[in-house]
Amino acid sequence: MSTTPDTRAALVTGGSGGIGRAVAERLAADGTAVGVHYAGNKARAEEVVATIDAAGGRAIAVGGDVAEPAEMAAAFDAVEEAFGGVDVVVHTAGIMTLAPIAELDLDDLDRMHRTNIRGTVVVAQQAARRVRAGGAIIAFSTSVTRLSFPTYGGYVASKGAVEALVPVLAREMRGRDVTVNAVAPGPTATPLFLDGKSDEQVAGLAKAAPLERLGQPEDIAEAVAFLAGPARWVNGQTLFANGGLA
Ligand SMILES: NC(=O)c1ccc[n+]([C@@H]2O[C@H](COP(=O)([O-])OP(=O)(O)OC[C@H]3O[C@@H](n4cnc5c(N)ncnc54)[C@H](OP(=O)(O)O)[C@@H]3O)[C@@H](O)[C@H]2O)c1
Repeated sequence: MSTTPDTRAALVTGGSGGIGRAVAERLAADGTAVGVHYAGNKARAEEVVATIDAAGGRAIAVGGDVAEPAEMAAAFDAVEEAFGGVDVVVHTAGIMTLAPIAELDLDDLDRMHRTNIRGTVVVAQQAARRVRAGGAIIAFSTSVTRLSFPTYGGYVASKGAVEALVPVLAREMRGRDVTVNAVAPGPTATPLFLDGKSDEQVAGLAKAAPLERLGQPEDIAEAVAFLAGPARWVNGQTLFANGGLA
């Protein structure tokens, strides 16, 4: 008797965001039922669900602050109730505030720490307890952990922690047939990257990669779809998806 579940199901945190939306739509197009998670932007998550429904896929919207264990437990419960289990967790939710280290507001550092580090641990805890055999857990770092751009100090500190956590969790999942990886995008055309930057700054960063363009959310979704599906031998890694920038 096969132990493969009838429905492969995913929870995509930050599904209301630029990259999360593309990931949710891509996984749904690949036949996965998706929990589209949001924090403040319920309307946007419902819009993603409607787009997936209209394309013949299955999705629900689930809310919650990624740093609050009870809220994320409820989000995982909702996906399990709707689709019978959780096979893939893609944790894209994250925030970024830029400032030179000398001027970094420590409240901003605490907020990034809370969402990016504590949030990753909270989601990883739920994922580690629930993801079924054959599944995948995918966290999000950034290519700036290699690029070391000025003003990104507080943010890369929070994302370097994510890269450090991934191989530890991969080892803790020994015997479960669950992979654990991170994707580290380069500059990608979403509000998180575009907000607060001049056209000149955006154009400069777009030219910097050898492929001479900005990443699109769909480029990142491609890397996630690989890790979420066929990439069973890739485990404990951070995959840099940045057009060759770093
Ligand atoms: N865009 C880039 O150039 C780039 C480059 C490297 C790495 N990344 C990483 O890629 C990931 C996705 O980024 P993006 O560009 O798609 O960002 P985005 O468009 O700004 O979306 C961010 C998402 O995170 C959610 N979120 C923020 N704080 C949250 C919290 N406390 N609890 C739950 N959800 C929360 C937001 O939810 P609501 O809107 O519903 O509140 C939103 O869905 C992030 O981890 C980011 O650091 C992005």
